[in-house]
Amino acid sequence: MAATMLTPLRWMDDHLLVLDQRALPAEQRWIRCDTVADVVNVIAGMAVRGAPAIGLAGAYGMAIAALRSEDLADRADMLCGARPTAVHLAWAVQAMRSRCTGKDAQAWVQYAQQLHAEDAELNFAMASHGAALISPGSRVMTHCNTGALATGGWGTALGVIRVAHGAGKIAEVLAGETRPWLQGARLTAWELQQEKIPYRLLADGAMAWAMRQLRPEWVIVGADRIAANGDTANKIGTFSLAVLARSLGVKFMVVAPDATIDRTLESGADIPIEERPGEELTRLGAQPIAPAGAVAWNPVFDVTPAELIDVLVTEHGAISQPDRSQLAAVAPAAG
Ligand code: MRU
Repeated sequence: MAATMLTPLRWMDDHLLVLDQRALPAEQRWIRCDTVADVVNVIAGMAVRGAPAIGLAGAYGMAIAALRSEDLADRADMLCGARPTAVHLAWAVQAMRSRCTGKDAQAWVQYAQQLHAEDAELNFAMASHGAALISPGSRVMTHCNTGALATGGWGTALGVIRVAHGAGKIAEVLAGETRPWLQGARLTAWELQQEKIPYRLLADGAMAWAMRQLRPEWVIVGADRIAANGDTANKIGTFSLAVLARSLGVKFMVVAPDATIDRTLESGADIPIEERPGEELTRLGAQPIAPAGAVAWNPVFDVTPAELIDVLVTEHGAISQPDRSQLAAVAPAAG
């Protein structure tokens, strides 16, 4: 892992430090979380974001609850309610509760740290499986931020790009800015720059034209929740990219740990989609950019139907044309 690669979470004896990603890339500022309410606030407020990273924050939140002898069932509900779409949050909280049944609070801390370390390992396994599918000299397109900042290390889709770049395969990354939180512009561009991976940043509205004119080999994205039939929820705009990719003959890869597969949901229609306040669209920071009283709709994830996905990469390997029977055949993650 490059020395510059930042981890979004640091455990400090009895509290959690969270890198405030809202301030990046201008400033590296850390938020101290002493209570479960603090952890809920950093997750709901987008200081920490990215499915695996919020799952790990939830796991550390449960460790804080155990250390403070709080009501674990109530704190688990609070944490799981912080953001609804990424199933990794509920998965990690549940993994903590199933594994740590005793009163030894240090066991909860240690298991959260173990999940954190394992996430980095899973990411590296996925990165290797995904990078093997990329041809030398490729241009690839990505969306949102799926890097070290979104995970326990390396990243999901960006992890694939990182490893492929290390193997000399990446000519250029096309990164979408990702309105309204600008995870692509603020975070992905920053991570790519630190790793000296060539990239160009694009307005979200430029992705179709870029796909046509610049011919990426792959669109590579992460996932927040995958239903049993392979339908995949990810950052708003992912569905548009998948439709474009199919219509323009560009391959589409989803990279996510097995724990992202929610086998309790039949299809993407059952995935809860987070809607955030309209002000995130009508303002840029403190600056209004729409008329006073403008009404906005702000769903922050969308669902890409499985049939538009060419390859799903998990830690177990790459699945071509993922569907219900293929997903049923891979082992569920322990939790
Ligand atoms: O709203 P965010 O920034 O939490 O959304 C993040 C994404 O949509 C990522 O693509 C997803 O979590 C998978 S990557 C680690």
